[in-house]
Amino acid sequence: MFDKICRDIRAVRENDPAARNLLETLLCHTPLHAIMVYRLAHQLYRWKLPLFPRLLATVAKAATGVEIHPAAEIGEGFFIDHGVGVVIGETARVGKNCVMFHNVTLGGTGKHQGKRHPTVGDNVLIGTNSVLLGPIAVGSNTLIGANSFIIMHDVPPNCTVVGTPARIIKQDGRRVDRPLARTAEPE
Ligand SMILES: CC(C)(COP(=O)(O)OP(=O)(O)OC[C@H]1O[C@@H](n2cnc3c(N)ncnc32)[C@H](O)[C@@H]1OP(=O)(O)O)[C@@H](O)C(=O)NCCC(=O)NCCS
Repeated sequence: MFDKICRDIRAVRENDPAARNLLETLLCHTPLHAIMVYRLAHQLYRWKLPLFPRLLATVAKAATGVEIHPAAEIGEGFFIDHGVGVVIGETARVGKNCVMFHNVTLGGTGKHQGKRHPTVGDNVLIGTNSVLLGPIAVGSNTLIGANSFIIMHDVPPNCTVVGTPARIIKQDGRRVDRPLARTAEPE
């Protein structure tokens, strides 16, 4: 847990040009506070402690505007910029070194049971106001543009997707214009 928190702190320094020094980052970067509380809440959740993980998540949400369910799995080096309005659901998975801006939702459609939130690979950037719903897969090294809506469609690795509904506009470094493939319905 502490190693991951150290990597999260480093991610702020790497991704945020406004983060001037370590003390300012630790005191003032509220999305980092939300991530640190999530790391603790997730550990308590893994130890099967009742109530406390959700209680911590609720306090973090009230204080920072970032809502991360303690059961979500998030890799190290996670960076959220601005933070307010970010929602990460219970069965979401996020890989290493991912970046999210404010108002990003990794949510459910309301139609699925069990695994019902997105799985995001490593080194993925998700722009502000983007909404990803359902047990979809987002491949590694992908950029999701601001204001993209991705509902029950998978996103391949190494691409840029933008729009509502989102389309692939770059893949493996080349300009393309392709729709996303629909996510298979879970059985
Ligand atoms: C998508 C993004 C990551 C750029 O990815 P990229 O692969 O470097 O794409 P490019 O900048 O080369 O843009 C390619 C095309 O997509 C368009 N585009 C880029 N982002 C877009 C978006 N969010 N929605 C619609 N079109 C977009 C560009 O205008 C460009 O179009 P053009 O070729 O007609 O000029 C970036 O534009 C973005 O949306 N970042 C999110 C950042 C954010 O949320 N910031 C909030 C700060 S408060």
